[in-house]
Amino acid sequence: MESKLLYQPLAQVEADAAAIVLFEDEAAPADLKFAASWLEELKASGEFAGKAGELAVLHLPQGIKAKRLAAVGGGKKASFDSAALRKAAGSTVRTLKQKGVKSLAWILESRDAEAAVEGAILGNFEPDQHKTKSDCKSLESFLVVASANGAEIEQSFARGVILAESQNFTRELVNEPANLLTPLVLAAKAAAMAKESGLDCEILDRDRMTQLGMGSLLGVAQGSAAPPALIVVRYKPEGGHKTTDHLALVGKGVTFDTGGVSIKPADGMEKMKYDMAGGAAVLGAMKAIAKLKPSIPVTAFVPAVENMVSSNAQRPGDIVKSLDGKTIEVLNTDAEGRLILIDALTYAKRLGCTHLVDAATLTGAIVVALGHVNIGAFTNNEEFLGQVMAAAKDQGEKMWHMPLDDDYKDLLKSAFADLANIGGRWGGAISAAWFLREFVDDTPWVHLDIAGTAWLDDAKPFMAKGPSGVCVRTFVKLAMGW
Ligand code: BES
Ligand code: ZN
Ligand code: ZN
Repeated sequence: MESKLLYQPLAQVEADAAAIVLFEDEAAPADLKFAASWLEELKASGEFAGKAGELAVLHLPQGIKAKRLAAVGGGKKASFDSAALRKAAGSTVRTLKQKGVKSLAWILESRDAEAAVEGAILGNFEPDQHKTKSDCKSLESFLVVASANGAEIEQSFARGVILAESQNFTRELVNEPANLLTPLVLAAKAAAMAKESGLDCEILDRDRMTQLGMGSLLGVAQGSAAPPALIVVRYKPEGGHKTTDHLALVGKGVTFDTGGVSIKPADGMEKMKYDMAGGAAVLGAMKAIAKLKPSIPVTAFVPAVENMVSSNAQRPGDIVKSLDGKTIEVLNTDAEGRLILIDALTYAKRLGCTHLVDAATLTGAIVVALGHVNIGAFTNNEEFLGQVMAAAKDQGEKMWHMPLDDDYKDLLKSAFADLANIGGRWGGAISAAWFLREFVDDTPWVHLDIAGTAWLDDAKPFMAKGPSGVCVRTFVKLAMGW
């Protein structure tokens, strides 16, 4: 889909449809003379009240070149923020494209071209890359019709295109099945993205990781015929750093999680291809960061492995040695995410990263706690978490601050090693976070458990079923705000 920012008067814009947002508590804009009576009548009839999610379509509207005029409910004017605009644009695109609309002109009342174009690009995405005959229709062009021009709105629009396309890049990676996306394929795709974006990329293979002593990561990888990779993608600001800070984005990259010998039930196991959603999110963020050029250096780390069952697979009771030297008793081979993340986090610290953020589909327990709405956010540094949560709020990605008191730490005691990799039945998302925390020490760190939010089991009006691409926009905003 191509998207464009236009300053033309709406009357002259040629499109299959033009869309305007109407609010519950506000009359239709008087300058839309051509449509004023229709819009008024629509509201008076009770058929359309302007509530969020409503859509009414008029064919052959008088006075404009567009073939249809769509009234889009915006809800209450005061609560129509950028998250609401993003959803409204997304829902409109998804409804109208199914009706055969190929080009849509969006009448923008604010300066927030970013949210409008993001909503459209995200809404137009379908996870149909492997259908030879897709039944999904798609929009070919999205035109943002702005009333004010200037650098601000142009930058806002450009940013929106970059962010949404990067988020869709992530979604496409997450949707890849595990037979087609092994750790080395993920590494090759990361390298190709880096090359195209002008970023450095280094892939650590099994030998290199053995040499370094990443026993925790390698223990998970040993059960698969597909070799592991630690993917490192670097962005450095031009013209020297203005800050001594260095942000690390670490993403869990389990291309498939069978659970290993502590095997998962068959029901729903196919979804475990999305166990690399954290890794895909940090790669998507890097793609956008390369274009938007924040002033802080950012390095992404994706430990990529496949958690399989075989005669080489790790057993419950195995004791492995992590890169930082601590020994771990593997009581459950299905708690593999934390085992690969700690070696990546330790490596990030060794490379000089001063602030660590990880995203991982880490626990079923976070889905029990927060459902599919909020990301679970954990930290050892409240101030840094505040920064991450502010970025998330700005981007309409919901996060909930989870506890990480010292009282939970004892859950990970092992009789035979420094630590066990599981903490018992209750508070599972918290003990998982504590396991990571044992390896970051005092370095400011935020852990985002995205097991409940990286995959939509049902389509939303504004987004297709499947991978959501969550965290990409938050990560970029975090880096840009440094
Ligand atoms: N990848 C899973 C977590 C997960 C569950 C992601 C549901 C998405 C949806 C993770 O590796 C896992 O299996 N965690 C175990 C930990 C347990 C053995 C302590 C879990 O949550 O059951
Ligand atoms: Zn697992
Ligand atoms: Zn997993």
